[in-house]
Amino acid sequence: GRWVRSTAILKEFEEKCGTPIGKLRQVADAIWWEQAQDAHQLCILTEKLMNVYQASQLLPCLVEPSRYLYVSRNENGLFYALDLGGTNFRVLRVQLGGKDRRLISQEFDEVSIPPHLMTGTSDALFDFIATALAKFVNNEAEGFHPPPVRKRELGFTFSFPVRQLSIALGTLIKWTKGFNVEDALHLSCCLRGFLCLVGQDVVGELTKVMERIGLDMRVTVLVNDTIGTLAGGRYYNQDVIAAAILGTGTNAAYVESAHAIPKWHGLLPKSGEMVINMEWGTFWSSHLPLTEYDQALDAESLNPGEQIFEKIISAKNPFILRTRDMSAMHHDMSSDLKVVGSKLKDILEISNTSLKIRETIVEICDIVATCAAGGILGILKKLGRDIVKDGENQRSVISLDGGLFEHFTKFSTCMDGTLNELLGDEVAETIVIMHSNDGSGIGASFLTASHSQYLGVEES
Ligand code: GLC
Repeated sequence: GRWVRSTAILKEFEEKCGTPIGKLRQVADAIWWEQAQDAHQLCILTEKLMNVYQASQLLPCLVEPSRYLYVSRNENGLFYALDLGGTNFRVLRVQLGGKDRRLISQEFDEVSIPPHLMTGTSDALFDFIATALAKFVNNEAEGFHPPPVRKRELGFTFSFPVRQLSIALGTLIKWTKGFNVEDALHLSCCLRGFLCLVGQDVVGELTKVMERIGLDMRVTVLVNDTIGTLAGGRYYNQDVIAAAILGTGTNAAYVESAHAIPKWHGLLPKSGEMVINMEWGTFWSSHLPLTEYDQALDAESLNPGEQIFEKIISAKNPFILRTRDMSAMHHDMSSDLKVVGSKLKDILEISNTSLKIRETIVEICDIVATCAAGGILGILKKLGRDIVKDGENQRSVISLDGGLFEHFTKFSTCMDGTLNELLGDEVAETIVIMHSNDGSGIGASFLTASHSQYLGVEES
């Protein structure tokens, strides 16, 4: 009902303002959630898709948690992380002080990636990133103590679908989030040296560039941002069972019983558990109702037909209406929605909007804020954590990160509300949503520490 109404109002809006519909796409995408009727339907869909994807070869990354999750928290020393996965990348360092002092200090720097590098050559991209990292490393402030004889170690958070072959080895399956080159062009792009990292070992490529520019560092672990966020969350709270990213892209990872993964034919890990990087951005089903706006956005994208789930949820590129603008609209308490009016004017160049239109825009922004609850609930259902079991004092903590979650303050309230509604109060009390600030990078640095090449090696 609300979807039809919102669409009708948008159409009217479009006619009145003579604004091309494309300009409204970012806002209109949100309507999808109404068309899907409610988060519950999405939850059932997510759970079904998880089964299908886990049985197939489509799931990119299965990782043994004994290696990926269990950071002892006794780790000591200075460790770095490089977090690449969106329009910005981060470099960070942490000084860990062992069992008693844990995380003594941390520092980070954030750098925007010039758009031309996102579709240029992989060499140029890695060169730019490694140069920024080298600059950061050379500026080690007081309070950070580099090892006198060891190489500095780095955790590489590379948030694209990767076929993970070992702790520091993985080949890129495909680019996402605007880093793509079209399939048909891929071969000729490779010949011309464009972002042809597909099928290549990403750690090897980064290492080559670091060596070339004289940065003496060792990549100790390679992780996805969901895995980093899961590990980062676990460092502080052992009840973390899943992590999700809601930002430029969207994805989740969770801890699953190894027996429940038909695709896994290897040895069973001692813990009996594995970590699954779901890559839920790739989920697609004919039951996913797509609006005409979703279809247009997909058709115009660099990778039509791919990452459909991601395209209907996460932040999109044309920099039209950013999450923080939506958030500012939510906080507009004035009776005539003045902030909404000025955002529409400044960003979308639409002046003189009526109060009715402003209210509708706020309502549409609201709809997107309830979306993630369905996906999260899909995971809980798959794990049987959507019911309270007799005599068990179960707690399920979900670690969340990403711009949509971080900057859209109403988001978490909406998500809590939706989870409560779908699970009922008794179960909802056992579920905790935890914001893991910069968890993907910090998690990677913790994992670097726990996998340090130099564990047990005495400094001379
Ligand atoms: C995209 C990437 C995925 C990542 C997600 C969130 O979906 O393919 O690996 O986790 O974005 O950054």
